[in-house]
Amino acid sequence: MCGIVGYTGPRDAGPILLEGLRRLEYRGYDSAGIALVTESGELFVEKKAGKLANLQTAIADRTPNAAIGLAHTRWATHGKPSERNAHPHCDCGKKIYLVHNGIIENYKELKADLEKIGHKFSSETDTEVLAHLIEEYKKQVPLKEAVWRTLAHVQGTYGLAIIDRSEPEKIFVARNGSPLVLGVADDGYIIASDIAPIVRYTNQVIYLEDGEMAEVTPCSFQVTNFKRKKVEKEISKIDWTLEEAEKKGYDHFMLKEIIEQPESMQNAIRGRLVAKEGMAKLGGLRDVADHLREMKRLVIVSCGTSYYAGLVGKYMFEEYAGIRTEIEYASEFRYRKPILDKETVVLAISQSGETADTLAAIREAKNKGAMTLGIVNVVGSTIARETDAGVYNHAGPEIGVASTKAFTSQLSILALFTLFLGRQRDMSFVMGKRIAEELSKVPEQMKKVFKDSQHIKRISKKYSGFSDFLYLGRKYNYPIAMEGALKIKEIAYVHAEGYPFGEMKHGPIALIDENFPTVAIATRDSVYEKTLSGIQESKARGGKVVAVATAGDKSIAKLVDDVIYIPKTLEMLTPLLSVIPLQIFAYYSAVQKGLDVDRPRNLAKSVTVE
Ligand code: M6R
Repeated sequence: MCGIVGYTGPRDAGPILLEGLRRLEYRGYDSAGIALVTESGELFVEKKAGKLANLQTAIADRTPNAAIGLAHTRWATHGKPSERNAHPHCDCGKKIYLVHNGIIENYKELKADLEKIGHKFSSETDTEVLAHLIEEYKKQVPLKEAVWRTLAHVQGTYGLAIIDRSEPEKIFVARNGSPLVLGVADDGYIIASDIAPIVRYTNQVIYLEDGEMAEVTPCSFQVTNFKRKKVEKEISKIDWTLEEAEKKGYDHFMLKEIIEQPESMQNAIRGRLVAKEGMAKLGGLRDVADHLREMKRLVIVSCGTSYYAGLVGKYMFEEYAGIRTEIEYASEFRYRKPILDKETVVLAISQSGETADTLAAIREAKNKGAMTLGIVNVVGSTIARETDAGVYNHAGPEIGVASTKAFTSQLSILALFTLFLGRQRDMSFVMGKRIAEELSKVPEQMKKVFKDSQHIKRISKKYSGFSDFLYLGRKYNYPIAMEGALKIKEIAYVHAEGYPFGEMKHGPIALIDENFPTVAIATRDSVYEKTLSGIQESKARGGKVVAVATAGDKSIAKLVDDVIYIPKTLEMLTPLLSVIPLQIFAYYSAVQKGLDVDRPRNLAKSVTVE
């Protein structure tokens, strides 16, 4: 959701910033822009609408050497995607340039006031008021204080980086609600919305907290809080490698990440699954284990794909750990009156650890006195830091906007968590062992699904002419139907509805005819027979059916139009396998249409605004 990057140090800033934007482009790609302070102290600014490539082409032969600069890749909120609205934005004097991730909620009032005293605006964005406000305050106080006063004046969220021609050796960065990381390299400092642009240069980072501002020069930095007090910051070490963030010869990050799932799942369970004891060891929960033993109710908050993982988690927790579990869209949670008490634990699930809605839900839960936990992929992200305890996915960087490997690693951790909580309660050793043994087999079983990739590709081609799909599943596979529908919607722009199978007859069945195919998840499990009845109902209305079924189930092939088989596993673990054909199906559906799979229109990887 907008990516910002800045550099100051002895190296040439331009290439570092462009490379940084390339790595941040998954956060937004409506426009891109750069501002550099050249060696002669001049400002070089260029912006282009559309993807980063447009900016790169525009400045290819004329990027000046510069020791300091800022850059931005935009996901539009206020003002349409255009060159005019691209960041960096500047003041009237064209001295102060800034890049912003977030939303300034009171920008209309501020803009009107500033216009009354003569400021001229050149964009429709909320961001631009910041540059004009700083300009205004600078008439009375030095730049740093002008930035503080500006921040005190605005409502909303920001990850912000500012340069000013009058103090050309400095970058000011400030954070409130939108992530900002400062990379401490041997040769300079890189600030960015996340670690992706930093990892190439250093693994030493500082996470800025809300209400903090850093003044960064080529050889030093100082962090202060809104009381103007110096804050001592801890340097953290990041363990993601540059190689993990590369495409490694795959056409798309999404495909690479689909194929990585056996490995990312293995990383999620390694050292945590104690198969012979039928237990899970979750180091991140050690300190809260006693509290979890007493917990009476679990509330899961998350969004998008992470929400569907949570829905599978609910089924697991209730069936195997006997814990009353509710799941809620994080975006709804704080706007109603959630009933929370000391015996309720709130669990946030988030790949990025920065999703604004999920973060707000966690903060609301904390305010109401509930313990909060996180299942988060990005180490050091805000949700990971703000929850009381949690478990990291260890899935490595997920760059494709459509979440794939993060989802299966979330499911793996939810299965581990079920074991952990279940064995604290009534789950028998035998059952614990069974779950643990089956879970440890899943990574190899995933590889078997990949062997069918060409078959799935052919099916996606066969169905490429359809513009609507119904995805149906029951029990553990109901969330997978939702996830499958989300995948094809977001990357192939195909209308798809995900439903619990039993709900079909309560409405969606009216849609079914020869132009409205069904993707049915029909694995051999406790609800198999019921699922078959649902398939019969679709077929009776002339609808085509693609089934995801259990290997060896020959009879289903006679009933449906196309089948994709997955290996047999424990019912609660089926989603780890049944989702993979749906990811591949969505992927090839998008590729066949020539779409930009990793950067689907209107989306951004990390949704840091409400
Ligand atoms: O980073 P998070 O897991 O909190 O993100 C939640 C959703 O924004 C995310 O899952 C989104 O739905 C993906 N585009 C799905 O592929």
